[in-house]
This record gives sequence, C-alpha cells and structure tokens, in this order.
Amino acid sequence: MATVLGIGIATLDIINEVDGYPAEDAEVRALTQRRARGGNATNTLVVLAQHGHHCHWGGVLSDEADAADIRGDLERHGVVTTPCRVVAGGKVPTSYVTLNRRNGSRTIIHYRDLPEFGFLDFAVMDLAPFDWIHFEGRNPAETRRMLEHAARTAPGARRSLEVEKPHEGIDALLPLADVLLFSRRFAQARGYGGAPDLLADLQPRNRDALLVCAWGEAGAWALEPNGTLHQSPACPPPRVVDTLGAGDVFNAGIIHALLDGAPVGQAIDRAGRLAGRKCGQVGFDGLAGDAG
Ligand code: FRU
Repeated sequence: MATVLGIGIATLDIINEVDGYPAEDAEVRALTQRRARGGNATNTLVVLAQHGHHCHWGGVLSDEADAADIRGDLERHGVVTTPCRVVAGGKVPTSYVTLNRRNGSRTIIHYRDLPEFGFLDFAVMDLAPFDWIHFEGRNPAETRRMLEHAARTAPGARRSLEVEKPHEGIDALLPLADVLLFSRRFAQARGYGGAPDLLADLQPRNRDALLVCAWGEAGAWALEPNGTLHQSPACPPPRVVDTLGAGDVFNAGIIHALLDGAPVGQAIDRAGRLAGRKCGQVGFDGLAGDAG
C-alpha cells in the first residue's frame, strides 16, 4: 500500500435533503439534515484510506469547534492531519448543500473565511515518504510553486492534479502533474460538449501526462500520452441518492487503481464503478471492497 499526501480543503457540509429542488423565494421543509466533513481533497483521501493507503492531509483549519469535528472525522478514517496549519479565528469553509432526493443532485452555497494552504506551508514538509501527491486545482499561484517544488524535491512521487473548477490561472498548472483529472464542469466552462474533445485539445499542454475526464452518466474517458483513448460507461446505482463528492470518489478510484498497477482502461472502469456505488449511498463510508 502507498503513502499519499493530499493538498486541498476540508469543509463542513450542512446537507438538507429536500423532495425536489425549491423555486426561488419558496419556503420548504427539509426531509433530513446532516452535518458532515467534506472538501474535495479530503473526500478523496478518506476513500483512499479505506483502500489501505496511508493518507496525510495538508490544508488549513481554524481553532473553532467545527474544525475539531473535521479533524475528528479525518482521524476516524486514519488520515494524518499533522501537515495542517491551524489559524486563530476565521471560519472553516462551510457548504450549505441542498440535496434533491428525487435525483440525487446537489446544489452548494459555499462560505469561507480562512487563508489557503500555501507554498510556505508545503515547503517545510518532508516529501520523502510520499509515493503520490494529489493537489486540488485551486489557488493556482501557490499550487504552481508546490507542484514545481514536489517535482524538484520528490521526483519519485507521482503528482495528480484535480482540475474541477475553472479558476483563473489554472492552465499554468497543467504541465506540472503526471495525472490530470478534469471535471465535466471544467470542460463545459471551456465550451466543450464532451470529454474526448477536451482531452485531445489539452494534450499538447502536457504530452507526458495521463488525462482523465469523468462525464457523469455518460461515463469517463482517459487519454494516454501515446494517444490511446479509453472510454468506460457510467455505473449508476439502482437509485441515485447522493452525488455529493462523487467526482472526488472517482479521483480516489483512479489514484488507487494506478497505484495498484492497473492499466488505464481498467483504472477508469474501476473508478467509475466506485463513483457509481457512492451515488447509491449517503456519504463516503464503506466504499472499499470489490467495486473499487
Ligand atoms: C464535494 C465537495 C463538498 C464540499 C464542496 C467544496 O465535491 O468537496 O464536500 O462542500 O465540494 O467545493
């Protein structure tokens, strides 16, 4: 099993489940409410930890009670939080999530008042133990320096980059990772109607990387440096109940499969099955096992 470092955010998710998405200015009652730890990088890490990897998280926490809950959840999953920076005051990133029970869609209103994990936090870490370093594609100026530093000082560690949101400046990061994990949201924001076009257009930015893009119910695609394009169908569960973090689970599936030595075609199949399984259940527990 591998030792994995994830850099990104942890959030408090306050999830209201509703029977159909409300109209503006409506007042509706939630069917259920739960509080959970979320955040793309930490969601990916808790799934990797369930698959037996030794996971460490680098991010920022405040000294408030919600941050203690977040840390508690990560520790419960065996994710080491010592690389974190803790700041006084502020508010951990909080997502107010409306989850539609009819189709599993999730609508997020996000609030944060916390600095980002930056290059100086990263530069003090000993990267020698890590086989894999996964970065959330956020805060591009700092993330760029972290990716460059990792390439220089830990050349043996593979680097993956999640490119989920179309943040300004994110393109500068594309040449710096070995595995690029694009989202449908990013592709659509760039005007692409499908994954293969995005992957083909972006390959010249990094000819050594594996490029991956999951496209919800249409399945997932991966483009190898040698030009081989793989496609795998989506694996929806009998009933979609919760899509929150499905992309983060897909990314964990890719990282796990590649660490396991799986060929690329198999890796996107396995990751798609794992993400499908996640959509059929609430939250991220119990995702290890044969579907992954
Ligand atoms: C799901 C998620 C949530 C979090 C939000 C942050 O992918 O990580 O857990 O609140 O996205 O963007």
